[in-house]
Parts: sequence; structure tokens; C-alpha cells
Amino acid sequence: MEKHRKYIIAGNWKMNKTAGESVELAEGVVKEVGDQTVVEAVLCPPFTSLDSVATVVEDSPVKLGGQNMHPAASGAYTGEVSAEMLRFFYASYVILGHSERREYFKESDAFINEKVLAAFANNLKPILCVGESLEERESGSTLQVVETQTRGGLANVTNEDAESLVVAYEPVWAIGTGKTATPEMAQEVHAAIRGILTDLFGSEIAQKIRIQYGGSMKGSNAKELLSQTDIDGGLIGGASLDAKSFAEIINAARELEEAE
Ligand code: PGA
Repeated sequence: MEKHRKYIIAGNWKMNKTAGESVELAEGVVKEVGDQTVVEAVLCPPFTSLDSVATVVEDSPVKLGGQNMHPAASGAYTGEVSAEMLRFFYASYVILGHSERREYFKESDAFINEKVLAAFANNLKPILCVGESLEERESGSTLQVVETQTRGGLANVTNEDAESLVVAYEPVWAIGTGKTATPEMAQEVHAAIRGILTDLFGSEIAQKIRIQYGGSMKGSNAKELLSQTDIDGGLIGGASLDAKSFAEIINAARELEEAE
């Protein structure tokens, strides 16, 4: 089946790389990506590296994203950053509701929803992360968990904003563990997410929304995952910390796109 959505491969560097180290990695990615725009490449470095990475990607097609943000515009929230602060560095995207934020920082669907709405209000495209734990998968509640997170995170999002939304399905048990969901397992959940998006925003918009897979995606498994009907990209942790490994995933998406 032909896909009409542009692949989006985003690197989630998590709490890795100083500003200095980030320059080197970003330069490597910019070099690997070159001037190709068939696949959208996004880098999400730590906040402390946004400035330096912004300078490196400035004249390239590589886009910038934050890993989190606070929903308030400004104020007494020690340690937090706002959407406007991310926009200052021309960030286009922001990862919201990553499972590590949900687990270690106790972020709720309601709080994540506030962030999603604040991101849209500031012209940032949210990458909303959803996904089940191993326990939830084993108890058969995967689809229910993903539905609650998707609907909760997207409450009150308008149809107009929804077009630029990205959803990342990241089974928690596959993150950083080397265990990847099989393409069929991932596709099943991606299709269910697309169904929820259709219910929320109608079919035309749901068909435009990109759904990334995340969880130990790498060069060697990217192609079979990305070839699934409803998998439109990847949110990459470990393999994004090396320019060549990250580029292997971008190239896999590119080959699929060009083969269509
Ligand atoms: P991983 O991380 O690729 O290291 O599994 C993905 C993520 O957490 O976004």
C-alpha cells in the first residue's frame, strides 16, 4: 500500500552529550543527511545543547526538537523550560510524555495534555509518546493503555493542529533493552492508534498524522519496521548517539520511500 506520509526519523539523545560533544555529533548527522529532504531528520539534544546544535543545523534540512517542556509560558518553575524558550532556537518539535518522564517524573496524561496544547499554541509540533510496560503487555492491556494515553494526551486538540501532530509508539519494554517489537506487533498497535486518531479527528486528518515506532530501532531492523503500513518513522535513542548508526536508519527510510 502506498504511503503518503513523509518518514520522520528523530534522535532522542536523552541525558547524553555536553554542548561541546553535541556539536561533533550534530555535524556528523548534518554531513550524513546532506541535502536530502525525502526523509525528515530531527535532532532532540538536551536543553544545554540546543544553542550549539541549532547553529550546526541552521543551513541544513535537519530539524531541531526539545525533549520536554513545561506548559506554562514563564514563571516560578525551577529547572523547567517553556515553549517560547525552545522556539528561540528555532526548534520545530518537542517530545512530550516520553515513558521516562511518565515513570521517573510521574507525568500524568492530564499534565502531558497541557503540554501538548501549549506546544501547539507556540507553533511547536508535539511528538506525543505512548506505550505499554511489559507487565501491561503480558496482562493483555496494551491497546487499552495506549488508547488511554492517546486520548488523554490529545484532549481538546483541534483538527487544524492535529495535522502537524506526531505520535510515537514506544513499548516501554523495548526501550534501551535491545528487544524490539516485531514489525507485526508494532503494526497492530500503530493501526489501533490510527483508528483512535480517526475517531478523534476524522479519516482525512488521521491519514496525515505520522506515527513513529521507538524502542531499540537500529539500522538492521529499521527497514522491516518502517515498511509497515502505519509506521511512518522512528524515535531513536541509543542508535542516535552515533551519526553513522543514525544515518543507517534515515537511509533505510529513504530507500523505502524511493522504492515506492
Ligand atoms: P532506544 O530509545 O532507541 O534506545 O530504545 C528510544 C526512546 O526512548 O525514545
